[in-house]
Order: sequence, then structure tokens, then C-alpha cells
Amino acid sequence: MNDISKRKADHLDLAEKGDVGFKHTTTLFECVRLVHDALPELAFDELDTRCQLLGKTLRAPILIAAMTGGHERAERINRELAGIAEQRGLAFGLGSQRAMHRDRAKAKSYMVRDVAPTALLLGNLGVVQAASMSTAEVAELVQTVGADALCIHLNPAMELVQAEGDRDFRRGLATLERLHSELAVPVVAKETGCGLSSRAAQRLRSAGIRHVDVSGAGGTSWVAVETHRATDARKELGKAFWDWGIPTAASVALVAREGFESIFATGGVKSGLDIAKAVALGASAGGIARPMLQALESGGTAGALAFIEQIETEIRTAMLLTGSPTLAALRNAPRVILGELADWLRQEPNQASG
Ligand SMILES: Cc1cc2nc3c(=O)[nH]c(=O)nc-3n(C[C@H](O)[C@H](O)[C@H](O)COP(=O)(O)O)c2cc1C
Repeated sequence: MNDISKRKADHLDLAEKGDVGFKHTTTLFECVRLVHDALPELAFDELDTRCQLLGKTLRAPILIAAMTGGHERAERINRELAGIAEQRGLAFGLGSQRAMHRDRAKAKSYMVRDVAPTALLLGNLGVVQAASMSTAEVAELVQTVGADALCIHLNPAMELVQAEGDRDFRRGLATLERLHSELAVPVVAKETGCGLSSRAAQRLRSAGIRHVDVSGAGGTSWVAVETHRATDARKELGKAFWDWGIPTAASVALVAREGFESIFATGGVKSGLDIAKAVALGASAGGIARPMLQALESGGTAGALAFIEQIETEIRTAMLLTGSPTLAALRNAPRVILGELADWLRQEPNQASG
């Protein structure tokens, strides 16, 4: 196994079994209370959970978020999860395609179109790698896997803790702007567990970006993952920044003010109720990474399917109990914002403009 494949295999092991959750920072979905409607006047089976995203219609607002690629285990995981996305009418994100850019033999582990011919498929590449590639090279990665859109991931916190990580994050915005204007598919600016602030969102909008995945704090801490892998002073650095990031619910609500076409709420999403709350805060869909991996690896395809079905049922239940026949109605459902989330929403924009 080369360095990238070894690192990706380590990531899967740590994400599946390791202590890589945030210690104190939560998503703050617990600060969102959707208001109960005792007279919903709706039939559970008639609720419409469909949504339009990046040119496709999803049967439910769920993304199986980017995780892997580049080795044999990744190939199995990608194919099984993509197959589930196809079967349930959901979106599926491939992991970083850097490995296949370096070595064409690795492309096989990202090929899922035969098992997911119609699912919304998102390609994936890090912004630092994309900065050093021509648009034609990036377009080739997208075309090879047949992706409908490309996630460009932003992960400065994780890179700083990783011994072999990137240190120079200049040209990030310019790269996103270039890919947005030159690629044939939409670009999704995606964090990886530290969230997007109002200021980051405003700069993305000014670069023309119309789609984001906030991937906020409260679920998998990628600083934690790299802290486990670190051996030197970076271990201490990782411990200090383990809980770094903007809680997912705060990030969704802040970013929703900036007029994006699509907002994926990834980061610590554990239930359909979390997704319903994210939609009420302005998200288009919820994304799930690590819990999906754990469901698959502990329960096989049947376990992963059961997990998704549970999430779907919870979304529908939240819709019925808030009197929301559609996701558009859920977006406007009455809610109460409590405590720390209310603090974020009151204070963060002032800092952005200051
Ligand atoms: C094993 C694993 C590998 C990941 N690899 C990638 C990746 O290659 N590219 C990316 O954008 N995000 C990657 N992520 C980040 C997730 O897409 C997601 O943003 C983050 O884990 C937070 O979601 P969660 O709390 O549901 O895990 C990975 C996550 C996991 C669990």
C-alpha cells in the first residue's frame, strides 16, 4: 500500500472503531425545538419528502457523505453505500479522488455508476490538490466516475495536525472560483467537520459558489483522527484543537442567510430528527458519514439499509408532527432556538462584518 492508501485505510479503521468524536462541542441540534402540532391534518403515507438537488430529484433529503476511495476495502464500501443510495433514491458522495489522480489503477475503487446509475453522485477533491491541477485534469476525474457535481473539500484544521499534511492554504478561493466557472458540473464547497462561518460563506458566494456542505462540528472530529495518528508534537497540537469548529446547526443557520442554492448539513447528524431540524434551519439535505460506515460495517448491507429506513421514518414523523406536508413547509415550521445556538446566531454575523 502506498502512503495515501495506507492513510485512507487508517482513517477508515479510526472512524469505525476509534475515539474520534468531539469531546465537548456538540452539533447544537439539541438547541432546536420544532414546535409540536397536535392537529396536523395530514396522512403519514401522503407526506412528500422529495427534494430537487443539483439537477436530480431525491426521494428523501439524505446524503451518504464522502468517505473513501483508493484501496480494496474502499471499493467495497463505496459500492455497497452507493447501491443503497440508488435503492432509496438518495445522494452519495465519493471520498477524495486524489488517489486515483496519482495512480489510475486506483480509479476502480471509485466506480459506482453500474450499481448507482441514477443516484445523485458527488465527486471529491481537496482544495489544495485542486489548486495544483488544471481544470482539464479535474474535469477528467469527474467524468471518469460519472459524477453529477464535485465537492471541493476544505480541511485546514486536519491538515495542520497531520504530519504529512498541507501547510499552504493560499489560492483556495481562487481555485474554487476557477473550477466553478470552468467545470461543466456544479462545485460544492465542503468542510470536513469544522463548519463554515458567515464570512467563509460570503466569500464563497462572492466567488460564485452556489452549493455548500457545511460539515460542521459535533460528529467526527478529523483533528481527533489525526491526533491518534500523530506521534510527535502534533499530538499535543491535536489535543488542543480536538474540539475546534462551528457546530453544525449554527453553521447551517448562518450559511442559510447567504442565499446558496443547496446546503448540505453534514457533521454529527445521527437521526432523521436532526435532518428535519437542519431543514428547518435552511438546509436542503442532511449528510451522514461515520454513522453510515459503522452501520454498514457492523450490520452489513441490511444493517445500513435499516439505519437509512429509520432516518427516513424519523424525517416523516417530524414532518407530520410539525404539520409539514412537504420539505418546503418543514423549512417554515415553527421552531424555538435555545441557548448556545441562539448565542451563535446573535453574535457570529457581527464578527463577520467587523
Ligand atoms: C472514514 C471517513 C473518511 C472521510 N473522507 C473524506 C474525504 O475523502 N473527503 C471529504 O470531503 N470528506 C471526508 N470525510 C468527512 C465526511 O464527509 C464528513 O464531512 C465528516 O466526517 C463529518 O460527518 P460525520 O460526523 O457524519 O462523520 C470522511 C469521513 C469519514 C468518516
